[in-house]
Amino acid sequence: MDLDDAYAVKTPEDSRKLYAAWAATYNETFIKANDYVYPRTLAQKFDEKISKTDVNKVLDIGCGTGAVGSYLANLRPNLSIDGFDISREMLAEAAALRRIDNSPVYNDLVEIDLTAELPTRAYDAMTSSGTFTHGHLGPQTLISLIQLVRINGWFVIGINAQHFELRGFAATLHGAHESGAISEVKLYEEQVYGPTSPHYGDTTQIAVFSRLK
Ligand SMILES: C[S@@+](CC[C@H](N)C(=O)[O-])C[C@H]1O[C@@H](n2cnc3c(N)ncnc32)[C@H](O)[C@@H]1O
Repeated sequence: MDLDDAYAVKTPEDSRKLYAAWAATYNETFIKANDYVYPRTLAQKFDEKISKTDVNKVLDIGCGTGAVGSYLANLRPNLSIDGFDISREMLAEAAALRRIDNSPVYNDLVEIDLTAELPTRAYDAMTSSGTFTHGHLGPQTLISLIQLVRINGWFVIGINAQHFELRGFAATLHGAHESGAISEVKLYEEQVYGPTSPHYGDTTQIAVFSRLK
């Protein structure tokens, strides 16, 4: 399994199958082998941009094996972090992760297809790496996920830069801002992989905004 397999995914069912087979080796064969720095960069951006005082409950969208949660829990040990993902096998890897004090990295892990019906929740913030990408989640799903965050809550969402262009995320986010649903969106372009990776040069647009209504 590699990046080509991930980009070949077309439906949620394809994702379920791919990540069921990949979960046990994903950290070694993808994160380590490709010097995948994205989850660390995303967690750092979250820590840099998001208030420390009124943000306690965070949702990690497409949490996979839990790389984002691990970095976030190190940077903000008091955060309660939940993870949503379609793959039971990826969630099982995330469930095994522990913080420095030996408590679980994730408070609640939920197996869910995020393109389908969503539960009622009111998180203070939402974050995501590697899930808004080719064949995975698109701009309309991002808009529907806004309801999971309380009014005035925050979003720090990584979107593969090519996918961002191809799927028209800019226009969709602009429309949501014009309608008064979200604040102006700040974009930060960052590397997905480190300089030793064969994929070095692939970038993400990290979108930072808040919910207004
Ligand atoms: C490339 S992995 C990223 C995992 C992790 N965030 C990281 O950066 O390592 C993409 C994740 O999105 C999940 N995913 C794909 N489609 C989904 C959907 N429709 N609903 C929920 N999760 C989905 C996959 O199961 C997988 O764990």
